[in-house]
Amino acid sequence: MRLVNLLTVLLLAIIFLSCSKKKTDTGLDFNNELSYCSNQINRTLSEISGKNMMPRNILANETSWNLRPIEISEWTVGFWPGILWYNYENTKNTNDADVATYYTDLLEPLIKLPAYDHDLGFQIFCSYGNAYRLTGNEKYKQIILNAADTLATLFNPKVGTILSWPREVDNGRFAPHNTIMDNMINLEMLYWAAKNGGDKKLYDIATKHAETTMKYHFREDGGNYHVAVYDTITGDFIKGVTHQGYADSTLWARGQAWAIYGYAMVYRETQDKKFLRFAEKVTDLYLSRLPKDEFVPYWDFDAPNIPNEPRDASVAAIVASGLLELSQLEDDSQKAKEYKDAAVNMLIELSSDKFQSRESKPSFLLHSVGHWPNKSEVDAAINYADYYYIEALIRYKKVMNGISVIENFK
Ligand code: GLY
Repeated sequence: MRLVNLLTVLLLAIIFLSCSKKKTDTGLDFNNELSYCSNQINRTLSEISGKNMMPRNILANETSWNLRPIEISEWTVGFWPGILWYNYENTKNTNDADVATYYTDLLEPLIKLPAYDHDLGFQIFCSYGNAYRLTGNEKYKQIILNAADTLATLFNPKVGTILSWPREVDNGRFAPHNTIMDNMINLEMLYWAAKNGGDKKLYDIATKHAETTMKYHFREDGGNYHVAVYDTITGDFIKGVTHQGYADSTLWARGQAWAIYGYAMVYRETQDKKFLRFAEKVTDLYLSRLPKDEFVPYWDFDAPNIPNEPRDASVAAIVASGLLELSQLEDDSQKAKEYKDAAVNMLIELSSDKFQSRESKPSFLLHSVGHWPNKSEVDAAINYADYYYIEALIRYKKVMNGISVIENFK
């Protein structure tokens, strides 16, 4: 009798262990990594408390955050509130919601201003977008709707894209109209607004921007130029150049990451297969150019001193998050698996001691590159790397629980 009981207990233990192992898939324990993020967030909160500014970066030789004031010209101010909302989504702890609310509300002055540039999408949708998704607070909804209308004022119908940087027209560098690849991400706020009581034209603007960008902003192989310059009289594409990459002809890694994430999202919103095929094209080029058995790229795939060039962890985080969505949208099961496996490998590598900051700094990740040509934020911890890392972990948790990565996103 005793032996039978022992065998039953053993059998139950084996079943339990195999089920819980399934939840973590190929060695990535999302619960563990998400609690690591929570701990780092608490360290950051103690460090920055009372300053009413947002953590932006920790440079290679530093151990504490450099903070930025809430200004329309500071493109990354929405990431810290967004990180806090993802943390709350995981912990469901009301204190975590309170602190996320506090930092989100600090951004309110931004939406009373005319459009400074396309980054309004990053600023408002990463913060208020997540805030509304998780709380349903109508005040947040109205703020996003207003911001979407403001962003749309930068759309040029002759060209068919949003003007990303008005200041670069004023100074004559990327005149008379410029669009940068990063701008793809800001279309999400326009799609959202069109579905949530905003002007339906916002959908058309976002889709036209994605179509024009797809037509002109890439080389034959699917590699992006960072910046596309257009003529405002004829609407013609004038040239593709770089701003943050090594050279006009090279593949700036984060530009390609924005394209992967952006076209997956545009396909989700439009259900137009041409965008799915294009998301595959930009992804397949990216994956084919990764170093063998490595998942965090160098900052530019064509930088001249590879392998002695800095890596860019932010790129791997953005791509991992984008690919988790793309794998769920795929109509080709083999590609779905390939993209999911690649995303998991990226997250495993980012979660290693090589890329996590751990005790050394209160960020989640080390080793991102902000702007190599300006020699700024080279090999730094940067807030957007952390934002897309925690987003990807939350998405991965949803994938493993069999739910959509954009659950709750209406
Ligand atoms: N959006 C600016 C960057 O990716 O650095």
